[in-house]
Amino acid sequence: MNVAIIGTGYVGLPTGVGLAEIGHQVTCIDREVSKIDALQAGKVTLYEAGLDELLHKNFEQGRITFTTSIKQGVEQADIVLIAVGTPPHPVTHEADLQYVYGACVEIAHHLQGYTIIATKSTVPVGTGDVIEKLINKTNPQADFDVVSLPEFLREGYAVHDFFHPARIVIGTNSSRAQSCIKKLYSYFDGKAPLYFVSRRSGETIKYASNSFLAIKIHYINEVADFCEKIGADVLEVAGGMGLDPRIGQSFLNPGPGYGGSCFPKDTMAMLYMAQQNSVDLSLVDAAVKGNQHRMQNIALRLKNFVERLNQSESKIAVLGLAFKDGTDDCRESPAITILSHLLPMLNGLNTKVSAYDAKAIDNARTILGAKINYADSIEECLQNADGLVVLTEWPEFKHLDLAVVKNLMRGTFILDCRNVFDIKSAQQLGFDYHGIGRSIPHTDKSV
Ligand code: UGA
Repeated sequence: MNVAIIGTGYVGLPTGVGLAEIGHQVTCIDREVSKIDALQAGKVTLYEAGLDELLHKNFEQGRITFTTSIKQGVEQADIVLIAVGTPPHPVTHEADLQYVYGACVEIAHHLQGYTIIATKSTVPVGTGDVIEKLINKTNPQADFDVVSLPEFLREGYAVHDFFHPARIVIGTNSSRAQSCIKKLYSYFDGKAPLYFVSRRSGETIKYASNSFLAIKIHYINEVADFCEKIGADVLEVAGGMGLDPRIGQSFLNPGPGYGGSCFPKDTMAMLYMAQQNSVDLSLVDAAVKGNQHRMQNIALRLKNFVERLNQSESKIAVLGLAFKDGTDDCRESPAITILSHLLPMLNGLNTKVSAYDAKAIDNARTILGAKINYADSIEECLQNADGLVVLTEWPEFKHLDLAVVKNLMRGTFILDCRNVFDIKSAQQLGFDYHGIGRSIPHTDKSV
């Protein structure tokens, strides 16, 4: 089939490459000339494991092309996927749909023959109805269906997730659109369920799923706090909980709070929609507030550590800036948020902050600028540090030899917000080690 995808970001590009790989003819469209120039020159514009190779392969075999022209992509298309950004409004946190609607008006002018317009971007419930009206108004002759096709790819694992979806949700009541989408995803016959629902249910599934996962993370983070106080180990607790298939093992990793371009935005947008409809989503609300509070607390713990040092100058080493491992993305990264809280708290304390991340330095620099130092290597970051905080769970951090870390650092304080280090080794080496939800084994004084 001929597929046009508008938007070549973390959703659009991996989806386009995946669809090309399963045999479709794909045109990726982006209005940013520099992005399209780079892609045409074979340069992948974002870091995503396995994307580079697959993109080159499909580009060379002529199954994927890149253009800034909506006309060029849409005229040929059986299906147009909208994968443009829906950034949150700075005050209300309502999803900003100007890019979605702008794209739809342009699409409407160039539709030829029956076409499906599907939203891959996360859009508020009811957006499909608005798009339908907008296209009808712009081009009353157009023959089309608007479908909700929510995306469940995780950044960093997008290529893997494209080929191994847990489900493909299709929101439409049109049988014509349903058979078209079945054809688009025929590669997944017998591999993943196609789940057909109404358009509004499709739109809701996306918000309800992301909010549920955010609540799950917030819950295990609170359980971690509980474990720290009560003398239990959250990794053992989460492992034991997860063995119950009703709970499941995934998304029970405690950490510095959830981040990224999706959970923070989608939870807030869902709360906004609930408020508009006089519904109380108290669990989502608690997760949002608790998550924000958590990052402030971590910053405070670091500031308290620096104050306790009581030195004329000090250094904090930060390992990890991306919002999670496997990506260069720093949008709503807990690491960046924590540093943004911490830096003003360190005023007057003569503390240098040095950070290392193999993939995310460039993106972090655009947000934090010259407020911190960016180390070229882990060794440089750790050299003479009084304290170390781990904020992203990159595998290379997990594999660090703690004896080497000890030799490089001046101090012994570690705040391991991703539990990457072995608690026993850290303690044996004399580190003042603090994991998340990890406590020194509890001795029952009554025994
Ligand atoms: C998330 C969803 O997982 C995808 O299904 C969805 O398609 C995507 O949002 C989206 O809406 O586009 P993503 O934001 O890439 O994907 O990242 P996740 O892997 O879900 O992680 C989100 C945040 O939660 C990260 O900060 C991560 O470190 C944190 N997290 C995740 C935890 O703290 N603990 C966990 O157990 C899992």
